Amino acid sequence: MKGIILAGGLGSRLRPLTKVTNKHLLPIYDRPMIYYPLQTLCEAGIREIMIVTGGNSAGDFLKLLGNGRDFGLPHIAYTYQEGEGGIADALKLCEHFAAGDAVAVILGDNILQGSISPFVRRFEEQRSGCRLVLKEVEDPERFGVPEFDGERIVRIEEKPAVPKSNYAVTGIYLYDSRVFDYARDLRPSARGELEITDVNNAYIDAGDCYYDVLEGWWTDAGQFESLYRATQLVAEERMKKALARA
Ligand code: DAU
Repeated sequence: MKGIILAGGLGSRLRPLTKVTNKHLLPIYDRPMIYYPLQTLCEAGIREIMIVTGGNSAGDFLKLLGNGRDFGLPHIAYTYQEGEGGIADALKLCEHFAAGDAVAVILGDNILQGSISPFVRRFEEQRSGCRLVLKEVEDPERFGVPEFDGERIVRIEEKPAVPKSNYAVTGIYLYDSRVFDYARDLRPSARGELEITDVNNAYIDAGDCYYDVLEGWWTDAGQFESLYRATQLVAEERMKKALARA
């Protein structure tokens, strides 16, 4: 399985912080944001990784991460997304890299406490389709929100005014190689983006979408409040670990 980190887009919701630099290079406590999704993939044993970047300071990713030696990687692949065409638009740039393999995709601003290893293992047993990672949240209207029929997801709505559940679809997605076929057929949404939610709905329509529910904390870091919260959560975690070691 290959890993993909989507760190494109323009980070418009964080202006002026993102006026001259890339959102994913901003600090979350003691590390640049991009370190966290990279660590999440590496910890799950994924060794072949592509980073999609875009907007400002794209060259700084190379300066910061190089070939990934600090993460124990032999190599990192990079590609560049022009503009802000959406998450699925960024993903489309990775078809050549995936070369028919399954992919673990993580959004560059998603930070979580635990490991995705159990989900990756279950996805490998599942053999085809997609596997989403859900988290119960207090503000589902900010996210992709699943609608359930019993245990089954029947539809995902992107940022619904009236959410049909209290779950967010997090930015951690496990896909078989069909993801690129679904992405190719997408049309831009009302906000002018190719939506990852439309890709996930295509898997639901095909009856091939499964999910896990995340324990431990999870947050995005794409708005001022969530950026601040991410820093607080990471800081608390580091302090807890330091105390446990003392
Ligand atoms: O964080 C989880 C949520 O992420 C999901 O619940 C939503 O379904 C999904 O659409 C997404 O929502 P956001 O509106 O929060 O996504 P945002 O536009 O902030 O983009 C998140 C990351 O995706 C960003 O840090 C980099 C990557 N991205 C985004 C866009 C728009 C790209 O690589 N290229 C893009 O064009």
